[in-house]
Amino acid sequence: MSVILAIESSCDETSVAICNNGKITANVIANQTIHQNYGGVIPELASRVHQQNIVPVIQQALNDAKVTKKELNAVAFTRGPGLLGSLLVGVSFAKSFALALDLPLIAVNHMHAHILAHFIDEPRPEFPFLCLTVSGGHTQIVLVKDYFDMEIVGETLDDAAGEAFDKTAKLLNLPYPGGPLIDKHAKEGNPLAYKFGEPQIKDLNYSFSGLKTSILYFIRDKEKQNPDFIATHLNDICASVQHSIVTILLNKVKKAAKQFSVKQIAIAGGVSANSGLRLALQTMALEQGWSVYIPAFEYCTDNAAMIAIAGYHKYLKGDFVGQDVAPLSRMEF
Ligand code: KG4
Ligand code: ZN
Repeated sequence: MSVILAIESSCDETSVAICNNGKITANVIANQTIHQNYGGVIPELASRVHQQNIVPVIQQALNDAKVTKKELNAVAFTRGPGLLGSLLVGVSFAKSFALALDLPLIAVNHMHAHILAHFIDEPRPEFPFLCLTVSGGHTQIVLVKDYFDMEIVGETLDDAAGEAFDKTAKLLNLPYPGGPLIDKHAKEGNPLAYKFGEPQIKDLNYSFSGLKTSILYFIRDKEKQNPDFIATHLNDICASVQHSIVTILLNKVKKAAKQFSVKQIAIAGGVSANSGLRLALQTMALEQGWSVYIPAFEYCTDNAAMIAIAGYHKYLKGDFVGQDVAPLSRMEF
């Protein structure tokens, strides 16, 4: 029997989940809207909001799961990677909570957890599989051999895919986080209206900084000719940018699948909520004979359910940490 409470606070979501014998029975997520006007997450503001949210979110999760603090068997938390101030709130709370209740502590790597979100519900992938992990801070192709035996076989050399979405959105005067808004406008636009170059990188790595620059120059030139260009062509711009990012992402996944002879392909992280990516992956899967694993929307962006399921698999191994554990803004994979 195991009842695990898990805390996620690496960026701008304060989230707490409960995992009861491998089943998620609560997943409370408090989003922070305070960053919308700044074009990105302001770390100092994020950590202050985590401090305000953490106690009520814990209480809500316990209520939702109908468990008491006394029934808990362990406390899992995101140790990193993420914003240090934000992580510090979750880590400190987890430590004091565990100390007060005399519970073991489980440290979880946020990027592992995005991948392990695939083990929350059926269908679960079998090992080995490839996972394209695309979030606001990371873009990785990971060969997943076991729950905690994972190898990064390709990653971005500069910007992350989520950053490419968010920075483009900023150029288009859309609020942060821009990814979901680009997705929304893209649904009404022509993905082939404008063409942006694909980076010429030979191995399985990515680069998105060139794309960002070419979008910047494209918009600047068009606006010189027509100051209303963005407003009047927003849907086509969004559809074309999304199409470029998705094409860049999936071409490398195809290459990795061939290189490692793997036919089980998963996507994870905030950008895996993108409807263009989800659809294009399904189309490519039909062509390539892949089985694909696409997370439910609630498990794409940051959430504590994924920390809880990762924590559960560490609990089964008896992989605990002491009270001297500290958060890590950059955590070894
Ligand atoms: O995994 P996540 O919630 O946080 C990090 O660990 O970074 O990912 C956040 C990123 C943001 O860049 C956001 O714009 C992007 O995921 N995102 C999307 C969509 N939903 C979230 N990007 C494109 N389309 C979406 N529907
Ligand atoms: Zn994340």
